[in-house]
Amino acid sequence: MSQQEQWRSKIGFVLAAAGSAIGLGAIWKFPYVAGTGGGGAFLLIFLAFTLVLGMPLLLAEFMIGRMGQSDPIQTYGKLAANNKWNFIGKIGVFTCFILLSFYSVVGGWIILYIIKIFSGGLVGLTQDQYGQLFGEIISNPYSTIAAQLAFMLITILVVAQGVQKGIEVASKIMMPALLLLFLFLVIRSLSLDGAIEGVKFLLVPDFSKLTSGSILFALGQAFFTLSLGVSVMLTYASYLPKTQNLPQSALSIIILNIVIAILAGLAIFPGVFAFGLKPNAGPVLIFSVLPAVFDHMPFGMLFFLAFLLLFLFAALTSAFSMIEIIVAAVTKNDTRRRKKVTWVTGILIFIVGIPACLSYGALADVQLFHKTIFDLMDYTVSNILMPLGALLIAIYVSWKIPKKDLYTELKQGSNVGYALFSICYFLLKYIVPIAIIIVFLDAAGLSHW
Ligand code: PFF
Repeated sequence: MSQQEQWRSKIGFVLAAAGSAIGLGAIWKFPYVAGTGGGGAFLLIFLAFTLVLGMPLLLAEFMIGRMGQSDPIQTYGKLAANNKWNFIGKIGVFTCFILLSFYSVVGGWIILYIIKIFSGGLVGLTQDQYGQLFGEIISNPYSTIAAQLAFMLITILVVAQGVQKGIEVASKIMMPALLLLFLFLVIRSLSLDGAIEGVKFLLVPDFSKLTSGSILFALGQAFFTLSLGVSVMLTYASYLPKTQNLPQSALSIIILNIVIAILAGLAIFPGVFAFGLKPNAGPVLIFSVLPAVFDHMPFGMLFFLAFLLLFLFAALTSAFSMIEIIVAAVTKNDTRRRKKVTWVTGILIFIVGIPACLSYGALADVQLFHKTIFDLMDYTVSNILMPLGALLIAIYVSWKIPKKDLYTELKQGSNVGYALFSICYFLLKYIVPIAIIIVFLDAAGLSHW
């Protein structure tokens, strides 16, 4: 095995991990699952899951990643001195494979919208026409597959170069830019007539709207947006030196992620209510609301273009992390095989994603368990495999790794107190598994909500 790669700077790691976290989950998915799942009440549950379950899990992945200094599969066996634990990593690698195969479909949609701007096709439409346009764009088999391929090619090209070069540099510029543009967008949305209804929808909880199904979605969403349960964060932490402050890094990533999700909500829901749309419109939400918000302002399309480019960037940095862990697992960090493995993996992912891509067009009628292929893949990954992976990691870390070893690892690079560590440990050992099991049981048997 060759030498583990290393991040070049402390902030580089935080940006790359935040880049993995912030992506379609916070920007595209959060508004529509919150819209379907009850608005403010969903947001509250999502925040609670993020802080109480997400924070200890993120730290857990960071700790064992840096402790193991190995790939996402072997880390588990190495630290527990028993290879049977490697299955946790294998589930993560499989999950990322399926995840990227449909994630790249949505990445492709963003590319198609960028092209549409250049052809002038997004200016001056009515609200209904924006919705229709989305339908037309995503149902065209040729352009969607080509765009999905383009998204995968960018991902492959960057990751084949190696994580530090590919991811770190770009993240340093794009992340702050994304944040700024979002702030601007929120201000713009809040100035629309009727905006306040949207703000109320997102911020005032109405618990009667919550169902067992929507609680499961909130759980899945919390793990999805933080890239948890699939050993991605573990892998990124395996490239870290012992000087990195892990609790501080975890906290910054969580805060950034929450801020972006809330900003996305505040950018979208005022528009939804101002234009008389339904908050539960589903995946179309951001794609039909935002063009209209931008269209009503000076230089709107220029700003929309900037937004789409940053949105694409956010999706790409998440995609990099998904393919990265597969490559790390297959090459066992042998850099000589990185290029070839990245290409083969990327192309396979693209092929597996084609049915998901077509499930908004040619295969729209193909339904399994009352879901299209795309929805089924998303549901399986977000609401089953990721929470399951998170459950296994919580159990593994808190029951297999001695508490004092974890604390020793955490203290390297930070001066976190034992009391604070113990709270996190307690959450990980008892609350995380119990909460995941309860939510699973509660939602068992529900195929839709
Ligand atoms: N966190 C990413 C997002 O919210 O878009 C999705 C994701 C990336 C999930 C990487 C899992 C993962 F391993």
